[in-house]
Amino acid sequence: MKILSVLCSALLFSLSLSAQAGPIVIKYSHVVADTTPKGQAALKFKELAEKKLPGKVEVQVFANSQLFGDGKEMEALLLGDVQILAPSLAKFGKYTKKLQIFDLPFLFDDIDAVGRFQNSAKGRELLTSMSDKGLIGFGYIHNGMKHLSANKPLRTPKDASGLKFRIQASDVLEAQFKAVDANPQKIAFAEVYQALQSGVVDGAENPWANIYTKKFHEVQKYITESGHGVLDYMVIANDEWWNGLPADVKQGLSEAMTESIAYGNKVALEEDANFRQKVIDDKKAKLIKLTKKQRQQWREAMKPVWAKFEGDIGKDLIEAASDANKKPAKEKKHDKEKAKQDKANSH
Ligand code: LMR
Repeated sequence: MKILSVLCSALLFSLSLSAQAGPIVIKYSHVVADTTPKGQAALKFKELAEKKLPGKVEVQVFANSQLFGDGKEMEALLLGDVQILAPSLAKFGKYTKKLQIFDLPFLFDDIDAVGRFQNSAKGRELLTSMSDKGLIGFGYIHNGMKHLSANKPLRTPKDASGLKFRIQASDVLEAQFKAVDANPQKIAFAEVYQALQSGVVDGAENPWANIYTKKFHEVQKYITESGHGVLDYMVIANDEWWNGLPADVKQGLSEAMTESIAYGNKVALEEDANFRQKVIDDKKAKLIKLTKKQRQQWREAMKPVWAKFEGDIGKDLIEAASDANKKPAKEKKHDKEKAKQDKANSH
């Protein structure tokens, strides 16, 4: 009996040694398609991490809610069942109220303003806003500005009255749709297509990459190019797991992370217009452009939401984000020169 137990212990010991000798498996899970900016960033992370740390790490990317969908993924990260996630900034409400800033309607004029805020000192501080919950943020990845869609044309806020809209799990987005007398429904991303197709909801808000890759434009008659809010991501990991990694692995993964985030952002900025064009070319949904006056009406109807969340988010943070709408002089000069060049080229 004793010999048997000694043999068993030896076997277990050698098994654990061989487990340690293999590469560290890193699961990176997300809910969108591989071709979106986030999907591309995840694949780039795999490529770079495995190149920088040959034989030491194996990165497994799970797209399209294959491994975990909304709702379950954060718990899974904290339990160690997945190592890297990049949830939309709208999905952190349970962990910090500060990130609600990104959901405030009409706060950012465009994706460049979002980027300026994310790269500012205040924006970067938010990456550590969940450290008390055991979460570490590596950086932000853009998707793009969101646009409203429905089966009826949405031109003024009155058009949304009484309609059911799918929203992400965010109290700010809930308040945003209530502000226009609509009915918001929190639904996981993996279920949105069906909810739109079956009429569980009448409309939604999404960036072009998500509309095209999930075919939402095939089950919505109209898309209003509202750009009323942003859908971006924070790449996160479990603090304990990250800090327990060997120093050389941590260094290589940090570099792969920084480079893959930059790559995802490049894809987002370059591809947004292409995804929009693909939706238009498909001729399934009709594109509605808002006049300046109509856009102002949506802004006025939705902006009162800011005051409701100001206490949780912080006035200083909202001001810093608003300031990011101001273009630095260098960029303004570049824009002017480009406009001049475009004009000259068109003659
Ligand atoms: C959504 O639920 O609409 C988005 O957060 C999905 C995503 O990750 O882009």
